[in-house]
Amino acid sequence: MLFKDRAIINLDVTDSTNQYASHLLRSAAPPDGTVITAQVQHQGRGQRGTDWESNPGENLLCSIIVYPIELNSYNHFYLSKVIAIALQELLEENLDREVLLKWPNDLIVAHKKIAGVLIETTWNHQRLHSAVIGIGLNLNQLNFNTAKATSTRLISGNYWEPQDCLKALLIKFEKYYFKLVSGQYNEITKQYRDHLYRLGQPMKFEYNGKAIDAMITGVDEDGKLRLHCGNGESLSCGLKEIKMVY
Ligand code: BTN
Repeated sequence: MLFKDRAIINLDVTDSTNQYASHLLRSAAPPDGTVITAQVQHQGRGQRGTDWESNPGENLLCSIIVYPIELNSYNHFYLSKVIAIALQELLEENLDREVLLKWPNDLIVAHKKIAGVLIETTWNHQRLHSAVIGIGLNLNQLNFNTAKATSTRLISGNYWEPQDCLKALLIKFEKYYFKLVSGQYNEITKQYRDHLYRLGQPMKFEYNGKAIDAMITGVDEDGKLRLHCGNGESLSCGLKEIKMVY
């Protein structure tokens, strides 16, 4: 096992498990694979500066600390791919439904978001030093503020104990993280691409605030989304530039 004897810190309440993990990284030397979970987050953070909402105790809220020093500024997106495919495989096995990856690493079932990932990193020159992989996975919550969210219980009808789900997720994550540290990049990329949401389907996007028609053709090595536009142009876009309209 890669993260043998990993430390798991289970909190009742915190501001954000990612925030807690970042404090820990600054104040101590948490071992590789340390996991922080919480029942309640007062300031759960999402991508693009959004909040992450979750009913107390119903879902999985966790952060994993890793030191992926083999990654650099060109290939660090592999970490996003690894956690995304670990979640994808876990959910597909447990739900018996197709689970897709909406770039960069949202998990989608029946066109609704079931999980999100927020990775926060520290760097040592051009190399990655540490990463906090924050995961919000909707398990038992039945009502959401948005029609675009779902949970495993809404899909399957079954209760899933968050700590049991965490154990299963860590086994999947370890499997793919091992492929990453042992350089099996092509296999990771194939699995990510094979489950990419809306790959090759013409659709609408917002690009730097402007509506465009385009089609996803893939994801670059550095994690940018590759698009073929209706006007024949090709684009590679970062998270701040592009938004899917769906
Ligand atoms: C997204 O916007 O899709 C990413 C959501 C990530 C939420 C998780 S919940 C546990 C961890 N702590 C946080 O504050 N955020 C992440």
